[in-house]
Amino acid sequence: MKYIFKGFSFILLAIVVLSCGGTEIIETPQPVALAEEPALIPLPAQVTWKNGVYVIPSQNTICYQGEGLEASQWLNELLSKAGFAVSTQNFGNCGNWKIEQDASLANALGEEGYQLDITAEGVHLKAASKAGLFYGIQTLRQMFPAAIENEKLNGQIVLRQTSIIDQPEFSWRGTMVDVARSFFGLDYLKRHVDRMALYKMNRLHLHLTDDQGWRIEIKDWPKLTEIGSKGSVRRGRSGFLTQEEYKELQDYALARNIIVIPEIDMPGHIYAALASYPELNCEEYSNLTPKRATPPEMFQDYNVGWSKFCLENPEIYQFVSDVIGEMAEITKGPWIHIGGDEIEDPRYKEFVVKADSIVQTYGKTTIGWEEVTKAKVSSNLISQVWRGTVESVVKELKVIHSLCSQFYFDHANVPGQENTNNWCKKDGVSLEDNYSFINDNPNVIGVEAPVWSEFVLSDEMMDNRFWPRAMAAAEVGWTPGEKRNFESFKQRLGKHGDRLRALDINFFRTPGIDWGPEKTIPGVFSSFRPSSE
Ligand code: ACM
Repeated sequence: MKYIFKGFSFILLAIVVLSCGGTEIIETPQPVALAEEPALIPLPAQVTWKNGVYVIPSQNTICYQGEGLEASQWLNELLSKAGFAVSTQNFGNCGNWKIEQDASLANALGEEGYQLDITAEGVHLKAASKAGLFYGIQTLRQMFPAAIENEKLNGQIVLRQTSIIDQPEFSWRGTMVDVARSFFGLDYLKRHVDRMALYKMNRLHLHLTDDQGWRIEIKDWPKLTEIGSKGSVRRGRSGFLTQEEYKELQDYALARNIIVIPEIDMPGHIYAALASYPELNCEEYSNLTPKRATPPEMFQDYNVGWSKFCLENPEIYQFVSDVIGEMAEITKGPWIHIGGDEIEDPRYKEFVVKADSIVQTYGKTTIGWEEVTKAKVSSNLISQVWRGTVESVVKELKVIHSLCSQFYFDHANVPGQENTNNWCKKDGVSLEDNYSFINDNPNVIGVEAPVWSEFVLSDEMMDNRFWPRAMAAAEVGWTPGEKRNFESFKQRLGKHGDRLRALDINFFRTPGIDWGPEKTIPGVFSSFRPSSE
């Protein structure tokens, strides 16, 4: 009964006793807590908590309409884990859980929005799309006890009655994992996807290539993985995703409404490819300035801006076309990121225009770091702003906002945190720095939080950089600016401590947040790890 006797208000429960002689109803006053207002992150656009509860019965039926099958499966899993019996039916208004997909709701709820009503009779979730239904289920998931994330419960859960009408502020709510400096493989990336999905994030950008390592199999250019994937930053991990693994990750992510965006960073940040195929260099490696490494050595240091393709050699475009072609073929989403950051060359703009046009030839839309907008790129290119210093020559390009002072989570959580970058903001990027994001540019389609992995060498360290700041990024991407409030966010965030622990996330215990008690399982292990690695 631990989830029932929690609050302060009581209702009468009719206890139904089944006996041999039939059904006997005994009216017994049973205290049932008015379940607390759940701490939802991101905060829904509109939420009204009602003065009543829904006591989930032991037997449940989910009825879905339209394309509600996947959502009903997610819900079935949630209810089963909570200890309830569940059956599912594909029609009508039959059950106490109704899932309704109807494309005509797009006008009212948007492409990713949903409406969730919890009354004394049951739960009704509706949306225009599978994505909206998925997000409605994630909202429900946050109303269930945190323990559901890692253990089976005993089927005694009371939901607060509510009416929620919700849709995101921005269509792009992303994170970026630098798998090039230090490698993070399929298992970690799937876990990362799970966590993003819980907080309604929908874009996973993989920084797949850099000076220190090449992380994706390209069948036409096998040495990229035979040689280039073997490197990493000092003490970092090496490795690569096979094309099969890359496909598996995308399917896993798509089932959670997350699109993967591959980045092949060019024409700079390219030494791992240059070490694998020395012919992509100029004579005497004049494209490597200074010569921090030359083939066949790999590069393990941290410097940027010293390597580039030999841009006067037309043969590099065969490489670019082959690599982009393969990536386009195995990428399910509509975007390919071409990097384009931190390099000077008289032929830089020519390169960017050609790379952009190669991406388009393969039917994808180009994304590039803000520097690419110095070139006359196509009008549908998306610029990812990270320093905010480049004036685009093409006006009205769409923008992903990743300003380093607010969104670079490889920077310290708090001033002085070890193993963090500090070149953009000396004191780090605090939770509040991120949460304070306010958009004043109508071309911004959303936000994305990168973690560069020069100093992020393990899963625990990656967890520590993303969480809980990614939850702030999730809320600024989803919740309308005028509804956001940092004090309210901090209160709700603390209440997610148990859920983050249950998910075994090594989150940074941000000071000033009440994270609740750290739990230990006696004699087995401590689920607490210090917030520094
Ligand atoms: C970047 O941080 N060089 C995009």
